[in-house]
Amino acid sequence: MQRSVPQTFDRVLSSMCTDPHPAARAAAERFLATNPGDPATYEEVAELEADAVETLGKITGLADPHGYITSGGTEANVQAVRAARNRSRDRVSDPNIVAPESAHFSFNKAADVLDVELRLVPTDETHRADVDAVRAAVDDETVLVVGVAGTTEFGRVDPIPELAAIAHDAGAFCHVDAAWGGFLLPFTDHAWNFAHAPVDSLTIDPHKCGQACIPAGGLLFRDRNGLDSLAVETPYLESTSQATLTGTRSGAGVASAAAALDELWPDGYRHEYDRVSDLASWFAGELRTRGFDVVDPELPLVAADVSESTFQALRDHEWRISRTDSDLLRVVCMPHVTRDTLSAFLADLDAVR
Ligand SMILES: Cc1ncc(COP(=O)(O)O)c(C=O)c1O
Repeated sequence: MQRSVPQTFDRVLSSMCTDPHPAARAAAERFLATNPGDPATYEEVAELEADAVETLGKITGLADPHGYITSGGTEANVQAVRAARNRSRDRVSDPNIVAPESAHFSFNKAADVLDVELRLVPTDETHRADVDAVRAAVDDETVLVVGVAGTTEFGRVDPIPELAAIAHDAGAFCHVDAAWGGFLLPFTDHAWNFAHAPVDSLTIDPHKCGQACIPAGGLLFRDRNGLDSLAVETPYLESTSQATLTGTRSGAGVASAAAALDELWPDGYRHEYDRVSDLASWFAGELRTRGFDVVDPELPLVAADVSESTFQALRDHEWRISRTDSDLLRVVCMPHVTRDTLSAFLADLDAVR
């Protein structure tokens, strides 16, 4: 195989990355050598970033968003924890954060690098955060309560308004991780964003369902203070402070996010949501017809009980699939996944089981 040619997405069913929109690709190439980390020098890409943040605000119910295009969901989540810790310094000496066990492992990294205790609490039988367990885990030293809007393993949406109420009763902040779900949820009736609950910060990643190029995550704060709490002085740049975690950043990621948002919000994303929702329902039905136990898809992510030997045989057929912590097969219906893709997958499944 020629190493300089990337693999196609034809058989990729486990990933939350996808083929970027053509407009995003073109924009990425144009802005490849710019650095939004130095916005006073690279003004054009800085303007694109401001546009992207404004549109992310529209998507998440926030008229005046404060945030930036991160390197991905991990950086956004780390920074949300950092902001909550920094903003609680006067109140708390031994900070902890409370998150459901379904939270992405980026919160483990955040806890580690920021020296904050991570309290993971069980999910309920529907795979959502257990509100009572969250309430019991929160105490005077809690700085952040995390809810996930589109979990990585099951695509579930936590009860965000309840989690925000628990956080604020304790004097803590509330962060929503909609890294994956953020471009799907606007077309559902879930309560998940800044308009639905007093959420303080939110992760929404253009490089997942937003169809931008990697690296393009998104971090938004309701208040200017959130972003300001992350800023450090930058003596030798043309600008005077920087709130991002990385210094030099990819102009390609920022420009591609702006281009994808410009091209697809809202109609393109709505159209894609409708397509992948139908696809996930159909695929879940096909698996059930074959006798597999399937977790009802809430967002377009299907988890099913497939034996280890069948799973391995499908991997031998070059399917890029993964398992949940509880060993279920998980298939994520990303923009590159079509009915043809899943029909071919089912044909292989029928042949190997
Ligand atoms: C819910 C959620 N949050 C955060 C992340 C981390 O995002 P990234 O891999 O872009 O850092 C993921 C990745 O899949 C995710 O599913």
